[in-house]
Amino acid sequence: KRVAVFASGNGSNFNSIVEGEDESYQVALLFSDQPQSYALTRAIDIGVKSESLSPKDYPDKLAYEADLLALLIRNHIDFIVLAGYMRLIGPTILKYYKDKIVNIHPSLLPEFPGLNAIGQALDAGVRETGVTIHYVDEGMDTGPIIKQEKVLIEKADTYESLQKKVQKVEHRLYPETLKELLRKDEVVAEASVN
Ligand code: GRF
Repeated sequence: KRVAVFASGNGSNFNSIVEGEDESYQVALLFSDQPQSYALTRAIDIGVKSESLSPKDYPDKLAYEADLLALLIRNHIDFIVLAGYMRLIGPTILKYYKDKIVNIHPSLLPEFPGLNAIGQALDAGVRETGVTIHYVDEGMDTGPIIKQEKVLIEKADTYESLQKKVQKVEHRLYPETLKELLRKDEVVAEASVN
């Protein structure tokens, strides 16, 4: 499968997804809505094709997503992987890529959706948080859950130490889950042909 990774910022998950490539998926495109994002620099460094469109250059979301969809189709993208993409996916992309968009979130959803999930978990004083990979729908961090993994919070944890633990899990779990999903997808597609 030809995958597009969407990232707005650092892009460490993008990096680990590229490192995990095998016959089930290849990262054909890194897309960013932030022309200055470090994810774009990483893409150039590791030789992955990258594109960016800035929503500020468009009158509205519909116009932005029309161009974005054209870009995805031009690049023969089969599947979209959100990795720190700080924007809701609108109806244009959702309709075309129905059940073919996933996201990763640094909490055990439905707990702590939205921004600063790690800070939210620390403020709540809970003993564990984690990572969720889920299908994307029109909501913020909603959509059917595919996989979750717990991360324990220790008394001594700071924002930085907890973030490090969570990201370590993310960097392993995301490529692993994509392989399972996209390999399975292949089998289903073959079965329906026969
Ligand atoms: C990750 O923690 C992910 O769960 C959240 O945004 C962060 C992106 O980090 N959605 P990076 O840009 O991949 O380093």
